[in-house]
Amino acid sequence: MTTRPILIHPDPRLKTVADPVAEVDDPLRKLADDMLETMYAAPGIGLAAPQVGILQRMLVMDCVKEENAPPQPMVLINPEVVWSSDEKNVYEEGCLSIPEQFADVERPSEVEVTWTNLEGAAQSAKFDGLWATCVQHEIDHLNGKLFIDYLKPLKRQLITRRMQKLKREKARA
Ligand code: NI
Repeated sequence: MTTRPILIHPDPRLKTVADPVAEVDDPLRKLADDMLETMYAAPGIGLAAPQVGILQRMLVMDCVKEENAPPQPMVLINPEVVWSSDEKNVYEEGCLSIPEQFADVERPSEVEVTWTNLEGAAQSAKFDGLWATCVQHEIDHLNGKLFIDYLKPLKRQLITRRMQKLKREKARA
């Protein structure tokens, strides 16, 4: 497994609608392994393929918070939200492509998602709590949407300017 560089906002690839995965093959499984490694190393709880520059509809996540609980890595290929609760939940969200910036985002508190797994089999599950927020945040990435797109324009512009500055500093380093 290899960690891959994570794209930092603003980047046109983070604003692009990703393509459906046509076939679950070995290169895709290798990408999933790399994405999990990259996510755990960051550390983060979710990562979508566009964040490592691959415009394919795949995401990884592991929202286990308890220190000593076993990890629960998940890989979702071509995920789709097929049901959302009317009830909403607010979480303070962050994103590995927008480092060290956090803001409250309201989303449905429960969602049902269908996807394909790494064996090519159809899956479906209901998510709640942090898992529900995370899976919706990551599916947004596949549609070129970031959590800051839910914020008021001024706040979004402020965060974007901070990221532009961070990228300039990184480029000089
Ligand atoms: Ni994100």
